[in-house]
Amino acid sequence: MRKQIAAANWKMNLTLQQGEALLDAIIATPHSLNEHQQAIFAVPFPYIAMAQSKLAGKKNVFVAAQNCYSKKSGAYTGEVSVEMLQSMGVQYVVLGHSERREYFQESNQFLADKVNICLDYNIHPIFCCGEPLEIREAGTQNAFVAKQLEESLYHLSAEQLQKIVIAYEPIWAIGTGKTATSAQAQEMHAYIRSQLAAKYGDGVAANISILYGGSVKAANAVEIFGQPDVDGGLVGGASLIVEEFAAIIHALKK
Ligand code: PGA
Repeated sequence: MRKQIAAANWKMNLTLQQGEALLDAIIATPHSLNEHQQAIFAVPFPYIAMAQSKLAGKKNVFVAAQNCYSKKSGAYTGEVSVEMLQSMGVQYVVLGHSERREYFQESNQFLADKVNICLDYNIHPIFCCGEPLEIREAGTQNAFVAKQLEESLYHLSAEQLQKIVIAYEPIWAIGTGKTATSAQAQEMHAYIRSQLAAKYGDGVAANISILYGGSVKAANAVEIFGQPDVDGGLVGGASLIVEEFAAIIHALKK
């Protein structure tokens, strides 16, 4: 059975002290994650050690990095390797967020290299895909997303693919307060799953968690997560507010 996941993406927000206080407050909020549910906190690199120590021993709760570099090690000043992340006990890395694609020119091919190195170190990529507004308006979002998946993931074996979490994040819904309707989310998630099934078979496709991202909040999480092919969310703004994120965790399908 695939996992239902509430993933917090703090992006470049919060001081160390604010991050500590946020995690303390979320830990103190009662929530019970069953074995099919996970909460993941994608925190800025400098806070990984803090988050790991605060969340140590918490069941079904994980820390993620928001990025990594595509090379094993070497003279790449300012970059962070997966080997470093692995040595800190990190098990998930967000890859290909639209902000990285847009502001740092990350291509599908570059992301394929990052996916590969993560899998070499047994770290699960949370692979983001999603179309910009003009593509949605032109009605070509399926082909756009299919290309992102094809160019970054389809070289993987079925066994490797099952280590990936996919996050569908329509760019026009990120940080805009404009959420895709639950029907739009379901339609794209079902399409993504059908593409994975065509390439890897129904059994593999049924095992992959596909998260929705883009203005998820407590008020819309139950409806969005309730869609059959939506397996939770990747949450930016609302993950910085204790009550919001606690409610979003609670909205995961049982
Ligand atoms: P948002 O961000 O929830 O603030 O829209 C989501 C994301 O970018 O992962």
